Amino acid sequence: DKGNHRHFMAKEIHEQPEVISHTLANYIDMAEATVTVPDLGIDPEALQRVTMSACGTAYYAGLVGKYWIERYARLPVEIDVASEMRYREPPLSQGGLSLFVSQSGETADTLAVLRHAKAEQQRIAAVVNVRTSSIARESDVVLPTLAGPEIGVASTKAFTCQLSVLACLALGLARARGELTREEEHDLVQALIEVPRHISTILRNEEQFEAIASMLSKARDVLYLGRGTSYPLALEGALKLKEISYIHAEGYAAGELKHGPIALIDENVPVIVVAPRDELFEKTVSNMQEVATRGGQIILISDAAPEAVGCKVAAHIAMPTACEFTNPLLYAVPVQLLAYHTAVIMGTDVDQPRNLAKSVTVE
Ligand code: F6R
Repeated sequence: DKGNHRHFMAKEIHEQPEVISHTLANYIDMAEATVTVPDLGIDPEALQRVTMSACGTAYYAGLVGKYWIERYARLPVEIDVASEMRYREPPLSQGGLSLFVSQSGETADTLAVLRHAKAEQQRIAAVVNVRTSSIARESDVVLPTLAGPEIGVASTKAFTCQLSVLACLALGLARARGELTREEEHDLVQALIEVPRHISTILRNEEQFEAIASMLSKARDVLYLGRGTSYPLALEGALKLKEISYIHAEGYAAGELKHGPIALIDENVPVIVVAPRDELFEKTVSNMQEVATRGGQIILISDAAPEAVGCKVAAHIAMPTACEFTNPLLYAVPVQLLAYHTAVIMGTDVDQPRNLAKSVTVE
């Protein structure tokens, strides 16, 4: 049932404040603003390394998780797409933790890496949405996302729920490893608790996406740029756009621009810049200026005013200012909405894009 939405994807985008709250409530003590560390059956202080693997959107959630776990828990994380890690069969050192992310829990490549990790005697934890799935069953520890059934082939609410769980896991590991003061934990958990309210604000301003989507619908290629935790968001934005609107899109780390993709820039290429005003903002701004100099059409997604970037901006998506830690959860929403509204204009089958399956159970 799509309720009063035209597509399941729209319904699922709008469900995010609710399902994120629901998911967070499973990992947070709301009254105390503390994280309830999931018992991984492994000593977090003795842990040397985390290995992560997933596919597609779940992989991008994992990539954000890597930035968070490394930053807050000071724990090295290796991550790779499951189709690569599967045949690379990396050696995994004794006593390691392997973490998998999957909405369906049935993705063949992810499951294959899980089995490899098991054979290498890793502790297996999985962030999964379907609790009865193969990945859930074969894991030592299940960290459920409480997104509810996701019908649209393009993942939306599962992604932000995966981010919610990974954020709590990062803080839980950080606390257990003595990397987080009680006050820091309180502030970061409080920021997570505020995420659903911020997302509701973004969703209330949905009309602003239509004009920009109309601009994107005329493009042949679209570039997405971001730095730090906004880099995986750029990758996710490009994936969402290409899979449902069939417009060619690439996500790049903003700093990689001059190592190749800048050659593509001219007045016909919209460049979507995911740039919250965080500690990397000024770096991204200089990349934006390089794009503007070459005539690129900048679409800025930021809580900073377009005047703050010192170059011409074709469109601006105004974001609420939130804690830097939780920005990936907020910035997921505008990239979803841009892809959705562009696909609606293009007249594609939004919920069932061509050639794609919801669950990839064969390699
Ligand atoms: C993209 C999308 C896919 C899935 C990927 C992994 O919108 O939905 O990229 O994220 O196929 O699927 P799961 O999470 O079920 O393992």
